[in-house]
Amino acid sequence: MSSKKGSSRDVPDIRVFFGDLRKMTSTEVADGDISLVVTSPPYFNAPFDYPDLFPSYEDYLGLVRSFAHQSKRVLRRGRICAIVTDDMLVKEGSSNRGRKYPLVADTTGIFLDEGFLYRDKITWVKPAGYTRISRRSGVVLQHPYPMYFYPDNIQESILLFQNGEFDYGNLKDAPKNILESSRIDTAQLNKERWNLTVWNITNVLPFSGRVEEGIAAFPEEIPRRLIKLFTMVGETVFDPFAGSGTTLKVARELGRNGIGYEIDLELKRVLRKKLGGHGLILEEREGARRLRRSLQTRIHQNRSVAR
Ligand SMILES: C[S@@+](CC[C@H](N)C(=O)[O-])C[C@H]1O[C@@H](n2cnc3c(N)ncnc32)[C@H](O)[C@@H]1O
Repeated sequence: MSSKKGSSRDVPDIRVFFGDLRKMTSTEVADGDISLVVTSPPYFNAPFDYPDLFPSYEDYLGLVRSFAHQSKRVLRRGRICAIVTDDMLVKEGSSNRGRKYPLVADTTGIFLDEGFLYRDKITWVKPAGYTRISRRSGVVLQHPYPMYFYPDNIQESILLFQNGEFDYGNLKDAPKNILESSRIDTAQLNKERWNLTVWNITNVLPFSGRVEEGIAAFPEEIPRRLIKLFTMVGETVFDPFAGSGTTLKVARELGRNGIGYEIDLELKRVLRKKLGGHGLILEEREGARRLRRSLQTRIHQNRSVAR
């Protein structure tokens, strides 16, 4: 496949802007230019990833509102915004008490307010032995009495919002070769049970030395399924919280173009490593910051289990 902008390279374009999504402009990502958003916003002050990143939950919801607004603007009519997120347990002060924040419900409300249709919710289930979870369930073993139950969380939500109704006539007008190369392998879909609202997928395992270390990266299998299910070859996928670039890597492998936004300049090196230099354009914008190292220091200072 040739790249969208007609270059002679035979790999699709991947472009990442380093800046604050809240300041993204239409010269960077034009209105209606995107065929699918696949992303995972930062999890509000998640103790293992983003401790104290946001001064308040209201400030966090402001970012989600801006994300919904930008997604509505850049998405083509009828297309999908897929969001991997989950409710978040955040420690309060120096105690081990946690407060649970309803990110899934609040994100859903914000996207509905923005005018999206609520298409579906898929529950991503990780293996039961997932090693990065906070082991709250030990509390009831220590105190086997009522009210000591705090379950371990091994799931996240994949929320699917749609930018108005899709015109299926668009597919009939597509060139035959593009339509055929975008055909979904239904044997694989059935075998791997993509047809259900529960997807069992192994998370990125927290081995030290991996390129995604210190980034709450999702496994490639999530964008792989979503990109095949909701885009045609040659279309453009957007990840407004690009992180290590998982969505963009898979987009390119599947012959789609990719655009990312990422606030943390310290992830440039990671993106280059994961995506390679070929066909990759990185640009700095207003609001870009250096975050990762300071977050990692805070995480090591805070390690203990909230309930
Ligand atoms: C959950 S991670 C995304 C991980 C990604 N899905 C992957 O597989 O590597 C969320 C990312 O959002 C970035 N971020 C936080 N606030 C942002 C903002 N205002 N604008 C753009 N990116 C932001 C964080 O630095 C982080 O890398």
